[in-house]
Amino acid sequence: MKNPTDFDFHDLQALLRFGHGQLTESCFMLLNIADPAAAKEWLRRAPVSSAKAVSPIPTTALQIAFSVEGLRVLGVREEVLAGFSDEFIVGMTGDESRSRRLGDTGKNSPEYWQWGSDPSQVPHLVLLLYAQKDGMTAWRETIENDRFAAAFQLVRVLPTDDLEDIEPFGFTDGLSQPSIDWEARQSTDLHDCDRYSNRLAVGELVLGYPNEYGLYTTRPLIDPHEDESAALLPGAEDNPSLKDFGRNGSYLVIRQLHQDVPGFWQYVDREAGFVPAKREQLAASMVGRKRNGTPLGPFVAENIPGIAQNDPVNNFTYEDDPAGHKCPIGAHIRRANPRTGDFPPGVTGFISRFIKMFGFGQRRPDEDLIASSRFHRLLRRGRNYGPILPPEEAIKPDAPEAERGLQFVVLVANISRQFEFVQNAWLVGTAFGGVQHERDPLLGGREPLPDGGTADSFTRPDPAGPRQKSCQLPQFVTVGGGGYFFMPGLRALQYIAASSLTGSDKSS
Ligand code: HEM
Repeated sequence: MKNPTDFDFHDLQALLRFGHGQLTESCFMLLNIADPAAAKEWLRRAPVSSAKAVSPIPTTALQIAFSVEGLRVLGVREEVLAGFSDEFIVGMTGDESRSRRLGDTGKNSPEYWQWGSDPSQVPHLVLLLYAQKDGMTAWRETIENDRFAAAFQLVRVLPTDDLEDIEPFGFTDGLSQPSIDWEARQSTDLHDCDRYSNRLAVGELVLGYPNEYGLYTTRPLIDPHEDESAALLPGAEDNPSLKDFGRNGSYLVIRQLHQDVPGFWQYVDREAGFVPAKREQLAASMVGRKRNGTPLGPFVAENIPGIAQNDPVNNFTYEDDPAGHKCPIGAHIRRANPRTGDFPPGVTGFISRFIKMFGFGQRRPDEDLIASSRFHRLLRRGRNYGPILPPEEAIKPDAPEAERGLQFVVLVANISRQFEFVQNAWLVGTAFGGVQHERDPLLGGREPLPDGGTADSFTRPDPAGPRQKSCQLPQFVTVGGGGYFFMPGLRALQYIAASSLTGSDKSS
């Protein structure tokens, strides 16, 4: 176990440690590089916020992340870029099979996106700006100085609004996050992780540290003899003769998700026979929580590492609800994090673990080993946009239409094992935990399966009788843009700013 003060927080961007919740205004700027030399000059002095705790809490914050093309334009060598993961290099829209796996087909198809529709359309970098109420105009003026104007071209600003922790459908959001094990207190050994833990190895979110497999995720390592600027970088813990470009960095995934709030509540209202209490019940069963955040328990209080015993919104697993009588198996939060350990409930002794490990002894068809949650966690840092529309207003036929949604942002160390897996296997996959022909009730597309089968229903328990099934769910969430970015550590940012440019780029 390490001393918490040992951690290299000053080299980490703050977003990995803090959600900047007290900075209620935010603005995500998508930029292209107009002049690489001027951009590097600006980056060298950019007031990027580090994760080192400071008191009093700052009134503004700035975070920065680059697409692969952005790094290329800034002069990062191809040999270095090749050390990043394939997903990052190819991009979110780089191949059709990825789009299919992410559910980016039909109405979600990249051809309809407003930005990022193909790799050449992914902005070079994203700036995430945060400020206290009424502070954003002044903060933007500070950031967008003369040097900035010469360096960058603004592609688009992703709007955000302060909805006070309530997402546009009306549910409390941002309640469940992994607790990062900065002090390396918890073993990642398979045999110690049979039950769910909310504590997560640093290497699941930050590159350059051991992950939940006890391994270091692949990232660019540089031979300092071949690259002078590499002296700016920290050494690689697992390969001391090399410098670690990834250390203290993370991948940042952005998806702009439009939410059809009237469409959601009008469908739920119809389905509930226009009875307000039933409408609330059905909507809550789709999310897995009531609108105020209460989980659909009651669940047996557990002693979950990384969650306070008295935390009423997160101190639970679904172990005592295997059939989804309390929280439907297909509910959004149950799909997004099934809160499973390495072994299903009841597997405790050496022999039953051994049997399970080799895939024998399956007791129920739905026991398809949804997979251990600890390998598929996400650090969510999104912000909402659009005017508030309470459900009572949204159900009216003349409910005002408006652009509403979530600027979905997650940080992960492994895009494919974390973001893409959750999105594909758990949210848009049509077979999850024994539930068939359904996708996530909130955000799944509703296109039929290739064999013609439907995938637009949602089943849930009914306290008063047999299971209820809602059919022909409309699509409530549509993707409007997205991309994969690398959010470097602060020393890596200086390395990027120092990379030498070639040819004509050098002149300006
Ligand atoms: C517009 C789209 C979305 C909406 C409206 C939405 C809404 C919500 C709400 C209301 C919660 C419960 C609050 C909480 O537990 O923190 C939640 C939790 C969560 N969502 Fe979403 N979400 C959306 C998209 C996504 C996507 C695309 C992913 C992943 C790819 C995702 C992953 C999660 C996770 C991991 C949790 C926490 C589950 C847990 O640990 O119990 N969400 N979401």
